[in-house]
Amino acid sequence: KILILDFGSQYTQLIARRIREIGVYCEIYPYDVESQSIRDFKANGIILSGGPETVTNGDAPQAPSIVFELSVPVLGICYGMQTMAAQMGGRVEASEVKEFGYASIRARGHTELLRDIEDHTTPEGYGMLDVWMSHGDKVVELPEGFKLMASTESAPIAGMADEDKHFYGLQFHPEVTHTKQGGRILSRFVLDICQCEALWTSKNIIDSSIESVREQVGNEQVVLGLSGGVDSSVVAALLHKAIGQQLICVFVDTGLLRLNEGDQVMAMFAEHMGVNVIRVNAEQRYLDKLKGVSDPEEKRIIIGNLFVEIFDEESAKLTNAKWLAQGTIYPDVIESAGAKTGKAHLIKSHHNVGGLPKDMKLKLVEPLRELFKDEVRQIGVELGLPSDMVYRHPFPGPGLGVRILGEVKKEYADLLRLADDIFISELYKHDLYHKTSQAFAVFLPVKSVGVTGDGRRYEYVIALRAVETIDFMTARWAQLPYDFLGHVSNRIINEISGISRVTYDISGKPPATIEWE
Ligand code: XMP
Repeated sequence: KILILDFGSQYTQLIARRIREIGVYCEIYPYDVESQSIRDFKANGIILSGGPETVTNGDAPQAPSIVFELSVPVLGICYGMQTMAAQMGGRVEASEVKEFGYASIRARGHTELLRDIEDHTTPEGYGMLDVWMSHGDKVVELPEGFKLMASTESAPIAGMADEDKHFYGLQFHPEVTHTKQGGRILSRFVLDICQCEALWTSKNIIDSSIESVREQVGNEQVVLGLSGGVDSSVVAALLHKAIGQQLICVFVDTGLLRLNEGDQVMAMFAEHMGVNVIRVNAEQRYLDKLKGVSDPEEKRIIIGNLFVEIFDEESAKLTNAKWLAQGTIYPDVIESAGAKTGKAHLIKSHHNVGGLPKDMKLKLVEPLRELFKDEVRQIGVELGLPSDMVYRHPFPGPGLGVRILGEVKKEYADLLRLADDIFISELYKHDLYHKTSQAFAVFLPVKSVGVTGDGRRYEYVIALRAVETIDFMTARWAQLPYDFLGHVSNRIINEISGISRVTYDISGKPPATIEWE
C-alpha cells in the first residue's frame, strides 16, 4: 500500500483516486503527521503531494525525515519534488516564469520511472511527454546522487531520480488527465517500483469489509438511517450481505422526497432485497413543524432536528441495537484530519445541519470510511444495486424543503414532485441525465397569468435548474437544447393543473448557488 503525504494541493485526493484505480490501496496523511504514524503505516512507497507553499520560504513545510529513512521508494510531485530536492541537499529557486497549463517535456527514458513512456519522439530521438504543469519555483541544482530525468525550456530540471534509493521527483502532475501518460507513470511507480499488487478491486473491498464488519459487530444488532441516497444505500446493501437480519434500517419519509421515492426505497430494500426496513411516515409532522416558516436556514434546522428526533424515537424502540451504521466516506475523513496547509478542509460542506444524535449510546460502524465516492458507487453496483440508483444526482438532505421557496405546503410539494418527475424522466429519455451533474425543478409560490381556451388562469411558476460541475463548488448552467426545454415546459404546463409558466435558470455558481435556497 501507498502513503500519500498531503502538502495541501488541490490535486491530492486525485492522486489517491488514481492509485486506487490502479488497484492499490493508499491513504492520505497530513504532511506534518507524527513519524511514528508513518512508520506504522508500513507503506511500500510514499508519495509527496504538491502544495501551495514555496520551498524558498524559511519555514516552508517539509517532509518528515523518516520518509527518506524507511528504504521505500518515494515520489515527489511538484512541491513534493521541490521539498525533496531541498531536503536532500539540492537547490530550489523562485522562478521568474511561472508555468501553468500544458507543457511539453523532454523525458529522458533512461530511468525506471519513465522508461518507454512517451507521447512522441523528436527527430533527434528524444522522448517527449505532454504534461500538465503548475508551479512557480524550480529545482536548479540536483541533490547528490540524483540524475536528471526530464526537462523543459523554463524548468531545466523537471524530473530527477536517485535510482539506488528509488527516490523520484516530477515537477509536473501525473495525476491529472491532461498528462496523458500520467496513469502509466503512476502505475510504473506503484506496481513496478514499489512492487505493490493490484488487489484493490470492488470484489476484494466488499469481501474484506464484510469480514471486518462481522468481526466488529459480532451478533449484535445494527441500526442505520436509510435515506435512499447513494452512501446509505450502499451501506445498507453491504451490511445486509454481511449480517443479514441483524441490520435494521430506519427510513424516515419526510414528505419532502421526490415522486414515489418512499415507495421505491421500500420496494428495493424491503421487498426486493429482504432488508429489515422500518418506514416512518412523517409527512404530517414535517408539515406541522414547517408551518409558517419561510427562512431557508430555519427550515434546514427544523428538518434536520426533526430527523434526529424521529430517528431517536425509533432507535430507542430497538432495545437490542448496539451499533449505529453511518455512511461516512473517505473525503469526509481526510477533511476533518487536514494538515495545517490542507486547503481541502476549508471546502467542508456547510450543509450538514442536524446530523445524528450526539448522545446516543451506540457504537459506530462506518464501512465506507476508506472509500472514495466513485468506489462507493462501484461496490454498490457490484452488490446488485441498480445503476440508476447508484449514479443518481445528489439530492439535498432537506429535500424539497429547500426547493419550495418560502413556506412549505403539501399542495406545493405535490405540484413540485410532478414537475420534477417530468423534467428528470425527459432528461433520461433524451440521454441528457448523465450529461448534467444535477438537475431539478424549483417551486415558486407566485402566481402568473396564463390563457387556456378562452379563460385566463393565475397559476404557479416552476423553474428548471440543471448544472454541470465537477466539485459542486462552482458550476455552469447546462446548455440543454431549446427544443428539449420547450418539450419539458409543454408537458409540465399541459399535464399539471396548477402550473402555468416554466422558466429555465441560466445563472452560474458563483454567484448563484445550485439550490435556490
Ligand atoms: P449549493 O446550493 O450550495 O449546493 O450551490 C451545492 C450542493 O450541495 C447540495 N445542498 C445540500 N445538501 N443539505 C444537503 O445535504 C443541504 O442543506 C444542502 N443545500 C445544498 C446541493 O444540492 C448541491 O449538490
